Amino acid sequence: MKAEDIKKITVIGAGDMGHGIAEVALLAGYRVAMQDIEQRFVERGLGRIKESLDKLVEKQKVTDENRKAMLGNIETFLDIGEAVKDADFAIEAVPEIMDLKKKVFEQLDAAAPKHAILASNTSNMSVTEIALTTKRPDQVVGMHFFNPAVMMKLVEVIKGEKTSEETMQTTYDLALKMNKVPVRVEKDSIGFVYNRVNAPTQIYLSLLVERGMVTPEEIDARMRKIGMPMGPYELMDYVGLDVAYYGGQYFAERISRDYEPSDWLKKKIDAGELGKKTGKGIFDWSKGRPEIDLSKSKEDFDPAVLIAIQANEATKLLEEGVVTSAEEIDKAMASGGGSGIGTFQMARGIGFEKLAGICEDLAREFGVKVFEPTETLRKGNI
Ligand code: CAA
Repeated sequence: MKAEDIKKITVIGAGDMGHGIAEVALLAGYRVAMQDIEQRFVERGLGRIKESLDKLVEKQKVTDENRKAMLGNIETFLDIGEAVKDADFAIEAVPEIMDLKKKVFEQLDAAAPKHAILASNTSNMSVTEIALTTKRPDQVVGMHFFNPAVMMKLVEVIKGEKTSEETMQTTYDLALKMNKVPVRVEKDSIGFVYNRVNAPTQIYLSLLVERGMVTPEEIDARMRKIGMPMGPYELMDYVGLDVAYYGGQYFAERISRDYEPSDWLKKKIDAGELGKKTGKGIFDWSKGRPEIDLSKSKEDFDPAVLIAIQANEATKLLEEGVVTSAEEIDKAMASGGGSGIGTFQMARGIGFEKLAGICEDLAREFGVKVFEPTETLRKGNI
């Protein structure tokens, strides 16, 4: 199937990502089915789509007429089978729990038309493993959006071991039709590109707080002052501390024990403080986005440390053949978040020798092997 043949898209899950992906599909002119397990979840998702479309109408990016047409193009369901029975393309966006994803894919495979492609919006998990629960692993692919899906441009298109080239190309073209910036991930590798490059910074951010070396506000104020739209701790809250926690566990089991979630993070999860979605996380979200007091900025915190950790991890993706070039990594890193600039672009500005030195110091100071500089970073010819 070609992207031109796709008319109807089913999204499984109406949460942070699901409702956003459904909205992206509506904006691109598709008919959409959105499913969740309880009526209140689908209603909340639909409400959030309406709110977001209202904002776009206000900004004159969408006409009122278009908004009405889009809302006429979406149907909601509680039953997966009903939602997917006449879909050309399905995107799963349920919580990051492998058994849950597998169950959803079994149901999708049983009910979706034979030609339909089944995509997972998983942030970290093995597309190959998910695909094995279906009788069409060649038509299963990763299609990973970023939060908020309507605003963030990146879509990672991930090739599972059995994913066919046709499925990859159709998914890539669909992302283009959705006005996104797709990046091909050639090897099904944990965290893919964007989340893998960012993963070790989460170890570092947790260590800094746990050891009482900084407060989240000091770092966020510093990063906001140098132009980031959102500091790294606020971003953890925005995406969800549960996502950081379960992602950390998944990385710990498969890449390195260094990723084991910290006690600091575990306490937040145990207290039900998951960030924006629960009104409290690292910051208080009960009145909307937290006010970050820029006067608290920790001026002696060097942002190059974060870039060193990220650039080092990015070199591992090159060494492992997860993507074909440094340019692809930069494209992903510039489009997935709010920075608008690639990791290697920033790294070149600072110098690879300095960054390798920072990584060496960090690995020694914190006893974290993941921070050790790679040969590629040391050579610096990127
Ligand atoms: N729909 C429509 N418009 C929206 C919107 C939405 N869902 N969310 C924000 N906007 C609009 C706002 O209305 C606002 O418009 P105006 O400028 O015209 O007023 C504009 O976007 C900016 O929003 P805000 O003023 O609220 O705040 P901001 O300038 O900081 O932008 C943000 C918000 C776009 C979220 C920005 O803070 C940002 O880019 N943050 C970083 C997000 C990021 O890094 N995401 C990646 C997370 S990692 C991930 O997602 C991986 C994973 O696997 C889970």
